[in-house]
Amino acid sequence: MKCARVLLALSSVASTVQARFAGAVNHSKRSPSLEVTLAPATEGIAELVATIKNVGSADLNLLKVGTLLDERLPVQKVLALDEAGVEAPFRGIHASIQHAALRAEHFQLLKASEIISMVINVAAVHDFTASGTYTFKASGLMPFANAGSAELIGPALTYESNTISLYVDAQKVASVPKALSARPLEERTEVQEGCNATQLAASTAALANCEILALAAAADAADPSSARFVEYFRTNSSTTRQTVVDRLTAVAADCATTDSGPSRYFCYDYYGICESSGPLNAYTLWDVSTSVMCSLFYDTLPPLPQGCHRQDQATTTIHEITHCEAVYSPHTNDYAYAYNESIALTPAFALLNADNYSLFANAVYMKC
Ligand SMILES: *[C@@H]1O[C@H](CO)[C@@H](O)[C@H](O)[C@H]1NC(C)=O
Ligand SMILES: *[C@@H]1O[C@H](CO)[C@@H](O)[C@H](O)[C@H]1NC(C)=O
Ligand SMILES: *[C@@H]1O[C@H](CO)[C@@H](O)[C@H](O)[C@H]1NC(C)=O
Ligand SMILES: *[C@@H]1O[C@H](CO)[C@@H](O)[C@H](O)[C@H]1NC(C)=O
Ligand SMILES: *[C@@H]1O[C@H](CO)[C@@H](O)[C@H](O)[C@H]1NC(C)=O
Repeated sequence: MKCARVLLALSSVASTVQARFAGAVNHSKRSPSLEVTLAPATEGIAELVATIKNVGSADLNLLKVGTLLDERLPVQKVLALDEAGVEAPFRGIHASIQHAALRAEHFQLLKASEIISMVINVAAVHDFTASGTYTFKASGLMPFANAGSAELIGPALTYESNTISLYVDAQKVASVPKALSARPLEERTEVQEGCNATQLAASTAALANCEILALAAAADAADPSSARFVEYFRTNSSTTRQTVVDRLTAVAADCATTDSGPSRYFCYDYYGICESSGPLNAYTLWDVSTSVMCSLFYDTLPPLPQGCHRQDQATTTIHEITHCEAVYSPHTNDYAYAYNESIALTPAFALLNADNYSLFANAVYMKC
């Protein structure tokens, strides 16, 4: 972990192993409530229109923050594959939401049989280096609340769109501004000191606690008799246990130092997106292994877990570090957040879901 004021020697992140959304959810649990349809919007520049229909009988308050409905955060909404089936690399963020701080404005009411459409500018958050026909698909989980409420009720709704093919022109697409191009990290050789005294003390403690909790969780995962591991990762396979042990051990090693290690850590909103969409605790750029803590992280989260399945600074740090490709590859994604929302995930996706690691570390610490 490199904290503020470090030299940036950008690690070459060769691999862009982006896990796929398709197959993330157990289809036998799939809810029939949401129908997502993709259609081409603008030829050449990878612009799509997504139409979302509530095909269920109940009105739904769909979460906007960090989802398909988010109009501000640079999050991944679709998967784009070239003709050889290789993904166009995602260049955006994984956002960590503070659930308790969600308000009515963070939701989109979609009444039974209502439809909404939105434009998805895929090129703003993906690299298209070669021209060709790409296939696009949106699938994932949609957390929701009851109409009139801002309290998520799990499990999240799942959706899987049609697949569409669209020609992308590498030259035209190069002129589409990137969502995160405002302050490219690559152009800076030195990051300014940015932590105030409170943030520095909290960050130092969070990193020290991250190491302790990640090592405790790794020890639990390594114990074949641990039923807790089976609860959080839905398997007792020794191979899966080893993967979890290895990832948590790598996270602990990264958290153990503040002046070296593969990831970078900012105490302040380096990219200016903490306040743009909803209540974020933190966000991470997987490809440059950079985590940014938002003021909610410092102002509202306790240093250590205070209850089962609840958020705190130590396990939020674990969550963010698992997103960093340079710490342990492949990096995790946010297929589902929180305990109740994620129960539809299949075992393969739990292994790549950041919250399964932070919630597992919470459970080991709290003995849930
Ligand atoms: C999917 O869910 C069904 C019903 O809950 C369950 O019986 C089945 O084992 C699950 N499959 C997987 C792969 O998790
Ligand atoms: C996991 O498998 C091992 C060896 O097969 C067995 O001894 C252990 O009891 C199992 N653990 C759980 C939690 O089922
Ligand atoms: C992922 O973790 C959550 C709890 O954090 C759990 O409810 C869910 O079942 C896990 N997913 C799988 C597939 O085990
Ligand atoms: C330091 O940062 C915290 C968290 O962002 C903030 O609440 C606090 O007001 C800041 N303190 C000073 C002295 O600026
Ligand atoms: C999660 O689900 C359980 C059981 O349905 C419920 O008692 C609990 O309140 C839920 N927790 C949250 C945070 O929604």
